[in-house]
Amino acid sequence: MPTLPRRYPWLTQRSRADQPLRRGTVQLAPRCATGYTADASILPISVAICSARVKLGHSHKATAEEVALFQAITKRRTNRSAYENRSSPIRLLEELKMAATQEGAWLEVVENEDIRNATADLIAEGDRIQWSDAQFRRELASWTHPNRNLRRDGIPGYAMGVADTAAYASAYHPHLIPANGQAAKDRDLALGSPALVVLGTDKDDAAAWLATGQALQRILLRARASSVWASYLNQPIEVPELRPRFARVVGHVGHLQLCLRLGYGPDVRPTPRRHVSDVVIESWG
Ligand SMILES: Cc1cc2nc3c(=O)[nH]c(=O)nc-3n(C[C@H](O)[C@H](O)[C@H](O)COP(=O)(O)O)c2cc1C
Repeated sequence: MPTLPRRYPWLTQRSRADQPLRRGTVQLAPRCATGYTADASILPISVAICSARVKLGHSHKATAEEVALFQAITKRRTNRSAYENRSSPIRLLEELKMAATQEGAWLEVVENEDIRNATADLIAEGDRIQWSDAQFRRELASWTHPNRNLRRDGIPGYAMGVADTAAYASAYHPHLIPANGQAAKDRDLALGSPALVVLGTDKDDAAAWLATGQALQRILLRARASSVWASYLNQPIEVPELRPRFARVVGHVGHLQLCLRLGYGPDVRPTPRRHVSDVVIESWG
């Protein structure tokens, strides 16, 4: 897998972690698609052109679960809209916990109302810190583009809930949003979402980040296969001074990696994809 320049905003303060995390999401896909076992290994940063090696192992008949996850790949996208006031099935949450464990991570479901409120407050506080940072806004603006743009990466305005006309100016959009407005919006999303979950690992090294990516992909695909959407509320993990406070609130021993909300909602348009050949080198010596 070629080394890619960072392709996402929001992780400014976690850049060391985001490559393996994203490699992990790529690693699960070939396993589901081909019915082959696959192993990913992280290559040292010094190996400039590749960031991970995915080796296909022996073939096996794809299980019903692998087929379901594979079919969910084209239906999965980040859905940032408000979700319906309808709980996710308890059985699904249990399945998502198992999906995380299967990949070497853990998933904590925020059920207690006090913890949910404290989580929503920390998300809002994270927004206020991030949105007061000009560098954060600039990076976000560089990733957001008009709906009809031909770029195959980044985030089109419509995926952020920006209508066609406003999306025309999406590169300016992140400069115009008031920090308090974003904080209030995300606080409401967190409190209004049927399920808030935190993905974490026991350790916080490259192997754990890879496991997080794999667990994330399995969770997102399992949720989508059950018609449930997800989006990210990572602010209290991304902002270093909030991370230990959030860990105390969640109360799970280990390292928090991502915070997601889950629920039912309206369909959203898919975002563009880069060509496979831009991100995967088929074989090398
Ligand atoms: C590890 C990881 C962290 C992410 N964090 C955020 C985030 O904090 N906020 C957000 O809006 N999207 C976040 N995203 C979503 C990406 O922006 C999104 O996956 C990407 O733009 C592709 O769009 P899609 O998910 O709709 O296919 C994250 C994605 C990954 C894999």
